[in-house]
Amino acid sequence: MNDSLPALDVLPMARPEIGAREQELVAEVLSSGVLSLGPMLTRFERAVAEWTGATYASAVSSGTAGLHLAIRAAGIAPGDEVVTSPLSFIASANVMIYENATPVFADIDPVTLNIDPAKARAAVSSRTVGLLPVHLFGAAADMTAIEAIASDHHGLWIVEDACEAVGAIDADGRQVGTRGHSAVLGFYPNKQIATGEGGMVLIGDKQVKNRIDSERNQGRAPDMGWLDHENLGYNYRLSDVAAAIGVAQVEKLDEMLDARARVAGWYTELISELDGVTPPAADEGAARRSWFVYVVQLPQGIDRDEVIGRLKSEGVSSKPYMPVIHLQPFYREKFGYAPGDFPIAEDVAARSLALPFYPSMKRGEVERAVETLQRALS
Ligand SMILES: Cc1ncc(COP(=O)(O)O)c(C=O)c1O
Repeated sequence: MNDSLPALDVLPMARPEIGAREQELVAEVLSSGVLSLGPMLTRFERAVAEWTGATYASAVSSGTAGLHLAIRAAGIAPGDEVVTSPLSFIASANVMIYENATPVFADIDPVTLNIDPAKARAAVSSRTVGLLPVHLFGAAADMTAIEAIASDHHGLWIVEDACEAVGAIDADGRQVGTRGHSAVLGFYPNKQIATGEGGMVLIGDKQVKNRIDSERNQGRAPDMGWLDHENLGYNYRLSDVAAAIGVAQVEKLDEMLDARARVAGWYTELISELDGVTPPAADEGAARRSWFVYVVQLPQGIDRDEVIGRLKSEGVSSKPYMPVIHLQPFYREKFGYAPGDFPIAEDVAARSLALPFYPSMKRGEVERAVETLQRALS
């Protein structure tokens, strides 16, 4: 490293809001000596259930773990099919493969970037057991349409991937996770609630809650001893240390979501002045996005890698976010997918660029990111 060069002030992709309250609650757990399955875990679950309005909540070690347990509780067997979106984080489809079932993709709506309900309906077969909509980038999927597909097909189950969408309001004005289906939140450090690693299943049914609580804990029933295992289970527990961070995060969640929305507003105001760059879709009707990332669509024909390189050289992080699942090497190999299978998702994925985005971002930093993007595109 050349010491004579000034350090570049880099705008990161994300930055969790960790402060004195998180430290205080973590210290409380550490001094209690109860680091797992303690009172802080229950406190975190109650806080999230209360904040979201969900009937029950079960904390787990990651969003992926939550999705896995939620589809198991909904009912899945080898050979079953589940209809989901190809434009998502890979975990939302991988969990079906964990169960030797098949994720069946349906292309997205080009504006909302969520699964297109007409295409989801067309993808249902005699082997379909469930639907797994993803609320991508914090915008709720069309749940009324998804529920209509489920009921027209004799009660297919629905599990919502809400890992990017805590606090999102859907088109019916309902908070994500309160429609009675299991909905899974994720708490990776870039998420609206950050606990390092972690997730939460929002649940409408007590039996589902019991099953998830057992399976996250090696298949133990609540009243059984430590070495009695009723069912197959996993170690998908969230530690009380992580739960403590989560409790502190929920206390300031409204504030953090407002700050994210404010930063997104600045971005949209400035991006709208750039030729050919498309900002995220605006909310329609009662729907309210919970801002997770700020992802723009670059114009056709732009070399995105070059743009990313130019941004990086000026200290602005960016990511080609997010890629389609079906073209990942493992999916091509296992299922024979090829470019062109889901053309709308592929086009969006090829032109998407995530910019630095976090609640404490200043207007001047947003201006710097957008000005640098403008130069990178010229
Ligand atoms: C849409 C979506 N689904 C699932 C996950 C998986 O969550 P985790 O990384 O906590 O396992 C994520 C998080 O990255 C996500 O964004």
